[in-house]
Amino acid sequence: MDATIASIVISVIALVIFKYTIKQANKYWFRPKKMEKRLREIGFKGNPYRIIFGDSKDVDRMRAQVTSKPMELSDDIVFRVLPYHLHLLQKYGKKYFIWFGMKPRLSILDPMLVKDILSRPNEFRKPGNDQMGTVLAGGLFMSEGLTWTKHKKILNPSFHIDRIKNMVPSIVESCLEKIEKWNLSLASKESIEVDMVQEIDPLIGDIMCKTVVAGPISEESKRMYQLRIMMNQQAAKLARLMFFPGWWSLQTQEVKTIKAAHKETQSLVKKMVTRRLEEMKNGASNQGDMLSSMLEAFQDEASGVSLDDVIEECRSFSFIGKESTARPLVWMLYVLARYPDWQERAREEVLQIFGDQKPNVDGLNKLKIITMIIYEALRLYPPTGVIHRCISKDTKLGDMVLPAWIQITIPITLMNHDPDIWGEDVNQFKPERFDEGVFNSEMQSIFFPFSGGPRKCIGQSMAMVTSKFVIATFLQHFILELSPSYLHAPRHSFFLVPQHGMKLVLRKLV
Ligand code: HEM
Repeated sequence: MDATIASIVISVIALVIFKYTIKQANKYWFRPKKMEKRLREIGFKGNPYRIIFGDSKDVDRMRAQVTSKPMELSDDIVFRVLPYHLHLLQKYGKKYFIWFGMKPRLSILDPMLVKDILSRPNEFRKPGNDQMGTVLAGGLFMSEGLTWTKHKKILNPSFHIDRIKNMVPSIVESCLEKIEKWNLSLASKESIEVDMVQEIDPLIGDIMCKTVVAGPISEESKRMYQLRIMMNQQAAKLARLMFFPGWWSLQTQEVKTIKAAHKETQSLVKKMVTRRLEEMKNGASNQGDMLSSMLEAFQDEASGVSLDDVIEECRSFSFIGKESTARPLVWMLYVLARYPDWQERAREEVLQIFGDQKPNVDGLNKLKIITMIIYEALRLYPPTGVIHRCISKDTKLGDMVLPAWIQITIPITLMNHDPDIWGEDVNQFKPERFDEGVFNSEMQSIFFPFSGGPRKCIGQSMAMVTSKFVIATFLQHFILELSPSYLHAPRHSFFLVPQHGMKLVLRKLV
């Protein structure tokens, strides 16, 4: 009898182990291999699947290698910013895939297909289960389905161009405060050296607070920005782990720090939100900022917006708005310093429109040269280097049927530096490419600085208006030059950043 029970127990255990082994073998080997076969069948090429790690170790090694030293002063930055993409492109041609751990990511570089993907957000969705994306971006940026539709509708008016135009005086005021500070340092000197990364960050933080919560930077916001710096640093260290299944549950110091900082941020935002809610209950008016719009929706039961939704959007916008405006602005100032002839043309335009008066909204649409320079900077130095999407069922794209559960990468930086799209002078700074703007049909088919389709950037007008007025006020007062100590080292760290800072020399305009 005992022997029978023992043999039953052993058989059950053996069965469980067998089933578990089959499941794991399927997950770690057979499923990726099946995916690989399907991709090769539709004409994509890539490295053969390597168990668990895929291409991740090579991606890491190559990134470490190229970022170990600065590059020459050139706008041909792809080899430094997306080295592995470039490597596969050269090896396999434009239809290539990268193994992100066990998942293949298909690169789509054909502008027509990219446009198609972006216009079908219900089929090509943001990758789910992206814990880092949820913590670092979250809110509208990461949401899907009904929540996205509802929130976008509520938030859109706060980012409408008419509301943004009303903000121009306060944007200019914030810039003038910065200029006054620099002027004080310049009082007894011919020139000063500044790190624009350090200068632009608080300036844009101040401007964004006015958009998001209609007020100056509060103590809570200051602490949130400190926490954010900490989170970005830890997240950069974790980038090499993210392909690993279950990495978010690992008890590493970096993960613990990010989770703690995220929690503290949420409670700071909650304080700001409940304070504003009290003010609104006591009769404070809606100032058109995004927090007021969300709180108004929250007070209307039919809207289905919860207080947690309000807190999450407020948290998300405080960070996305600031970083996605500040990071590219630094590169815009870089190109102005690097190309003095274009800086001079932009200054002439500013002085012609505003003279020595404060820049004002009437001149907004006349800033043609500055607009062209901004677009060319966004082309050569795109803040968002890649856009990711995924599909949950077999999906037709062009003349292909993409297999279910595949991830798709749109490598914006590669596309913006592709000679087949832009011509042989692709790596030259030529703002005249945009002398007819970006809204003509040719540009709309090849240039996606703010993405496209229904999920295009909600902050586009905000970012463009802010950048134009920051540049205009700076050029009215200073000549910008690259510092001799500047090291050219663009690198992706969620956004495109100058790895060793952006050292510029400011001279007073006489
Ligand atoms: C030059 C500055 C900016 C650039 C180049 C930029 C670029 C982009 C891009 C490429 C996307 C699409 C990402 C994707 O689909 O995965 C996006 C989406 C988004 N951006 Fe921006 N952005 C900028 C400024 C801003 C600002 C100032 C804000 C907020 C104040 C903002 C808020 C958002 C949000 C919420 C989304 C998600 C929209 C949705 O899914 O419906 N962005 N942005």
